[in-house]
Amino acid sequence: MDNIVLIGFMGCGKTSVGQQLAQKLNFAFYDTDQMIEDESKRSISNIFATEGEEYFRRLETTTIKNLYGKMNHSVLSVGGGLPIREGNVELLRRLGHVVYLKTSMATIKKRLEGDTKRPLLAGDDVDKKVENLLMIRTPIYELAAHSIVETDNKFFEDIIEEIQNKVNILTIENRG
Ligand code: S3P
Repeated sequence: MDNIVLIGFMGCGKTSVGQQLAQKLNFAFYDTDQMIEDESKRSISNIFATEGEEYFRRLETTTIKNLYGKMNHSVLSVGGGLPIREGNVELLRRLGHVVYLKTSMATIKKRLEGDTKRPLLAGDDVDKKVENLLMIRTPIYELAAHSIVETDNKFFEDIIEEIQNKVNILTIENRG
C-alpha cells in the first residue's frame, strides 16, 4: 500500500506538511480532523463541548477504519491524540508508512501560544498542559512510527524530502 500517515503532537505541522507532500507526490490528502468536521458539520471544539472527548475519540477510530481499503496513493494526517487510543496504532500501520513528525517542546509551546481551536489546551496554563501531554504521548508516537522526522528549524521542503527518503528506504527494504 502506497500511503503515508503523519502523526505527531498538536502544532507539529502535520496538516501543512501533509498537504504539501500530497501535492508534490500527486497523492490524495486526508486529514482526520477535517473529515470529522465535514461529516458531522460541527467544529471539533463543539463536539468536545457537547459530546465529550470519548465521543470524539470514537469518531476518530471510525474515520480511520472507514479509510481502510479505500486509501491508496494518499497522505493521511491524523489528530495528535488519535495514536493514543488503544488499537489505533495497529490500524494506522496497516494503512501505510507511519511517520512521526517530532517537534521540540519549546517549538510546540511557541506555536500553540494563544491557540483557541484545541479544546485540550483551553483555559489556563497551556504550557503545563503541553508538558504533561507530551510526556505521556512521546513514547507512544515513537513506538507507533516506522520513521521519525525531526522538524525543528527546518523548511517544509526539507521535511518533505526527508519523509520521501525515509519512506523510499522502507519500501526498498520491504521488497528486498
Ligand atoms: C487533539 C489534537 C487535534 C484535534 C483535537 C485533539 C489531541 O488535532 O484532533 O483537538 O488530542 O492532541 P491536531 O493534532 O491536528 O491539532
